[in-house]
Amino acid sequence: MTAQAPAKRRILLVNGHPDPRPDRLCSALASAYAEGATAAGHIVRRVEVGALDLPSIGSQADFMAEPGPVVAELQQALREADHLVLIYPLWLGAPPAAFKAFLEQVFRYGVALSAPGEAKGVKGLLSGRSARVIVTMGMPAAIFRLVFFAHGLKCVSRGVLWVSGFRPIRETAFGPAEGRDPGRRLQWLARARRLGAAAV
Ligand SMILES: Cc1cc2nc3c(=O)[nH]c(=O)nc-3n(C[C@H](O)[C@H](O)[C@H](O)COP(=O)(O)O)c2cc1C
Repeated sequence: MTAQAPAKRRILLVNGHPDPRPDRLCSALASAYAEGATAAGHIVRRVEVGALDLPSIGSQADFMAEPGPVVAELQQALREADHLVLIYPLWLGAPPAAFKAFLEQVFRYGVALSAPGEAKGVKGLLSGRSARVIVTMGMPAAIFRLVFFAHGLKCVSRGVLWVSGFRPIRETAFGPAEGRDPGRRLQWLARARRLGAAAV
């Protein structure tokens, strides 16, 4: 029996680092993931949050309003994707403000969640899609999980993706990012390439 080739997937790959320079770990991980995915025949659309300069949402009315063309186009890319990959650094225990602004702008009512009163409770509108969240950090990843309960990751994976209907949501934490061991960074990049090839 021949093994079946994995289906071609449409991947939306978001580098959530405010600084998109390629020498940052987040950018390098995004490139490695994209390389692996593209080589395996998947279709990758990459978004650089650091190049977007989106403002954060300032009010409920702002959250309910029709977005401008840049955000509308990002929302369309999100709808068209089968798989979403979010990569960002941990800053003060949380996603950087620019990445949080991206999430607020894109994951609005009507796209990610039913508007209040529209459904019983809140209904996630993006079901049928999978996601991977990759967070990088200065501390060892084991400390992040055991001492900080991976809070800076769960706020995205549970607080944004799970409520929007994504399943499964896979999580990866890489740290310590800074250090004298170049082998560790190479291992993480190889891992990102493998994840991309498998589109998971
Ligand atoms: C403003 C700022 C805040 C940071 N806060 C944390 C933190 O709370 N916990 C942590 O482990 N690392 C923290 N770091 C370290 C970054 O997470 C780390 O440098 C980054 O993940 C490395 O990825 P990069 O090369 O893509 O920037 C912080 C770094 C900066 C610049």
